[in-house]
Amino acid sequence: MLSDQERVVVLPAGRGPVELPRSAVQVMRRVPPRVVRPTSSVDDMVRLTSRGWPGTEVVRMGGWSLHAGGGYSRRANSCHPTGDAERPLDEALDGLSASYRHRGLRPCLQVAARDLTGDEPGALLDAALAARGWHTATPSSVMTVDLRAAPSDPPTPLEWSTTPGDIWLGVDPSQHPDRVEVLASADAHYSTWLTGGRAVAAGRMAITDDWAGLSCLVVDPALRRNGHGRALTIAMMARARELGARWAYLQVADENPRAQRLYESLGFRVHHRYHYRELVS
Ligand SMILES: CC(C)(COP(=O)(O)OP(=O)(O)OC[C@H]1O[C@@H](n2cnc3c(N)ncnc32)[C@H](O)[C@@H]1OP(=O)(O)O)[C@@H](O)C(=O)NCCC(=O)NCCS
Repeated sequence: MLSDQERVVVLPAGRGPVELPRSAVQVMRRVPPRVVRPTSSVDDMVRLTSRGWPGTEVVRMGGWSLHAGGGYSRRANSCHPTGDAERPLDEALDGLSASYRHRGLRPCLQVAARDLTGDEPGALLDAALAARGWHTATPSSVMTVDLRAAPSDPPTPLEWSTTPGDIWLGVDPSQHPDRVEVLASADAHYSTWLTGGRAVAAGRMAITDDWAGLSCLVVDPALRRNGHGRALTIAMMARARELGARWAYLQVADENPRAQRLYESLGFRVHHRYHYRELVS
């Protein structure tokens, strides 16, 4: 909430700012920050995960946030439609389509629900997008874990940095001109597992409030299925606890069952599901 002599601006969760004349306000009370927990709503969790990977631009449309990052990752180049767009759906979709096209990007929303075939707001939005010809992409899950229940840390020779250096970037050689800017769009810790001076595995961890958001876990293809992925994830969870996080989340695609198995074996459970809806033509 912001205030001056004449007006008060309130920022309700899931909506854009609301401005009131000061004379209309009788009582003001400081509200503690909302704590997001593994039992919190899908919208709360989407807002949290967005902060760990926001992209280089975030534009508000009511409660919806439009993320852009030069096209690197759908997560950073999609609208996250939490709360209310505060305009009719077709107007909101036209607005976001124009905004993405203006940036040379494909119009895209990340649609999330516990059950995307049910009647939650995310599922109803999904059905409305399907009816308008928006195509699905990358069905995925957000998984969470309570770090107090995490396995203990085996000794793992990790190096940590708060920037993605060349060695870290080299473990996953995917090239994109906006990769570094999108990674750096949230404060994060970068872990690199070095063996004999060579990087064999890497990961990223964004700390947001009480949460650690794990991403970019990758093991050298020649060394997979040797326990590096498990040991690195456990070490990252231990580091997250040291940094004060209570819970961790990550996002994993349905087409990656080996990573899902790894995360399930470490106690991660599905919080909600999401996929993208894109306007292809
Ligand atoms: C996912 C990934 C990080 C796993 O790393 P890894 O070092 O091969 O994994 P580990 O050897 O530690 O295996 C841990 C568990 O993962 C699962 N797993 C890993 N590879 C698997 C495979 N090829 N088939 C089935 N399960 C597999 C198993 O449950 C395994 O436990 P187990 O060996 O006791 O059965 C690695 O495959 C990778 O870099 N993939 C490409 C990038 C990626 O998908 N990252 C995750 C993004 S969310």
